Amino acid sequence: MKPSRRNFINTLLYSTAGVSLLGPAQTVLGKSKSNIKSSFIPESIWDIPTPALLIDRPRMESNSQKMQSFLAGTKAGLRPHTKTHKSPIIAKMQMKQGAVGICAAKVSEAEVMFESGLRDILITSPVVTEDKIKRVMALANQSEQVRLVVDREDNVADLNEAAKAAGINLSIMIELRMGWIRTGVEHGKPAWDLNKSIDQSSNLRFYGIQAYAGPVQHIKGFENRKRASEMVLAPAQQMKKELLGAGYQVEALSVGGTGTYSVDANLEGVTDIQAGSYLFMDVDYRIIGGEGQDLYTDFEPSLFVLSTAISQPMPGSITIDAGSKSFSKDKMPQLKDISGMEYSFAGDEHGILTFKDPSREIKVGDKVLLLTSHCDPTINLYDNYYIYNGEEVEGIWPVAGRGKSQ
Ligand SMILES: Cc1ncc(COP(=O)(O)O)c(C=O)c1O
Repeated sequence: MKPSRRNFINTLLYSTAGVSLLGPAQTVLGKSKSNIKSSFIPESIWDIPTPALLIDRPRMESNSQKMQSFLAGTKAGLRPHTKTHKSPIIAKMQMKQGAVGICAAKVSEAEVMFESGLRDILITSPVVTEDKIKRVMALANQSEQVRLVVDREDNVADLNEAAKAAGINLSIMIELRMGWIRTGVEHGKPAWDLNKSIDQSSNLRFYGIQAYAGPVQHIKGFENRKRASEMVLAPAQQMKKELLGAGYQVEALSVGGTGTYSVDANLEGVTDIQAGSYLFMDVDYRIIGGEGQDLYTDFEPSLFVLSTAISQPMPGSITIDAGSKSFSKDKMPQLKDISGMEYSFAGDEHGILTFKDPSREIKVGDKVLLLTSHCDPTINLYDNYYIYNGEEVEGIWPVAGRGKSQ
């Protein structure tokens, strides 16, 4: 008997069919089948209940391949930041395509990745409390590629004690402050003092330097961004050089993100690029500009929110069912494939599309796709991704690290 279309999709979701790069069994929705039963799995994206988060799979994969092929021509590798997608399925795809390891922002995010079998994980924020240090030791006990950043000496002492108690050698990176106030030790003497205390720690193994310059990623105009990135990374390159000169082994200088990857990967000493958003792109990144152009088009948007027009109290605008519970609010979402219409937030559950000179009519009941304003915090609002190709839904993947910001 020819399987029905629905049976085919369920088979795909439960087990099989190895869609492209993802390989067999990676299209499974979470672990429990009851989860799956309660989810409506439509055939077409236009039948997905809204608001919903969608990934255009071929585009996401092409962004991933583009990054990998670019880096293949440099001395740097890719250590993608999984804080963006929070999905072990996607992290495994990135590893399969050649990533050298992954980043996780926090311990709980690292745990989600670890549980799925990922082993080379750099936690990019300092871990300072006893409970979380214990949790890291539990991971590091099983993989010597679980790595931590430090920016203060008392943390070095605490980590060394914990590593000693666990009987392990913990992989440590010095995080440098990169001209903005968030985390990181000042370069020069404070960084060297930190290095000395790591060197004197019986159970810590120095792995390298993390030098992530967040605000530089979003500087508008490619040349401005390039200059800024070269400037802020110079002290990190210098420190690596001096450490090598002093006989230290420096395996990694881990830097950058989506905005500066092409600059940073060609800088002397850089070993890995911590980009995250390049897989999906968002309005925030599109507007920073690329080489010789106003829009940043190195990567194409592959992440969208699907929303339905639900009311039209007045002509000239229409209300959709996606508000601040569906998009992060730091920038405005933008319509995909429709011009002359502007989104504005209208509370938690609603958004308003105001007609300027719309390229298409939208009526109540119609569905629209929107580019996310800022991908990472938007993704954190959803339980699942709907994965599609063309207009066909291929599967549902959990945002397994949703809410894992501890
Ligand atoms: C430490 C660190 N590295 C890398 C990234 C990835 O940056 P992007 O998403 O801009 O590529 C982030 C993002 O916030 C980050 O905090």
